[in-house]
Amino acid sequence: MKLIKIGTAIAVAAIMAIACQHKANTPSPANTGNNNNNGNNNNNGGNNTVDTGICFSRDILPIFIANCTQSGCHNTTDKADGYVFTSYETITARGFVKGNASETKLYKAITDNDPNDRMPQAPSAPLTNAQITLIARWINEGANNKTNCGTLCDSNNFTYSAAIKPMMETYCKGCHSGASASKGIVLDTYDGVKNATLNGKLLQTIRQEAGVVAMPSGGAKLSTCQITQVQKWASAGALNN
Ligand code: HEC
Repeated sequence: MKLIKIGTAIAVAAIMAIACQHKANTPSPANTGNNNNNGNNNNNGGNNTVDTGICFSRDILPIFIANCTQSGCHNTTDKADGYVFTSYETITARGFVKGNASETKLYKAITDNDPNDRMPQAPSAPLTNAQITLIARWINEGANNKTNCGTLCDSNNFTYSAAIKPMMETYCKGCHSGASASKGIVLDTYDGVKNATLNGKLLQTIRQEAGVVAMPSGGAKLSTCQITQVQKWASAGALNN
């Protein structure tokens, strides 16, 4: 009897271990961009497994790049207050407690109620609640440095609300919002994204064509699937759908 129980426990543990190899043991996909996970549009170099748990390089790093590394802030040149948020190593290097968001300095900063102390500092907008929740989960789950996890992107889904807006929030908004928007290009409003798309600039920069400044500045190139989404949305008239 006892032996059977132990045997069952081992079998269950083994099944769970196999399940976890390909799928993190988290309840919902990381909500940072495109959530339609049909497995067909991978852009991860032939690995067809999409990890729907939190993936550092796919889900977390772009938020830091787009919101914290502008000129004068936490990039490798300016190192504001000694913090650099351009890589896993630097993000987790200072005041960072793996497994405990509320003890982690950067988490306190992004959730500070005082707009003068909060990061990103006013007049920049705070991170969205979805981004803050995701960062908290990532830290509390141990702040894993997962990379190359596949993409949660479906190029057949290219509405503004489901695909384009969340993409801009994750990759672009930090440098392209409000009065201080880089080059005056505003990407946290529908009109701003539509204008930059219809005049061709946005696609040229994310395709990283010769002669334009490559975007997202300081970050990895968007996936082929993401670029296709923008292209299809543009071709369909850049609707507010
Ligand atoms: C870390 C900051 C940063 C991020 C993130 C960023 N940009 Fe930029 N962007 C800039 C800066 C700075 C410029 C001005 C570059 C210059 O002219 O030298 C710029 C310029 C642009 C331009 C104008 C290019 C031109 O030649 O007129 C477009 C379009 C643009 N960005 C789109 C995007 C998009 C789309 C994203 C997200 C995928 C993005 N940017 C993310 C900083 C950023």
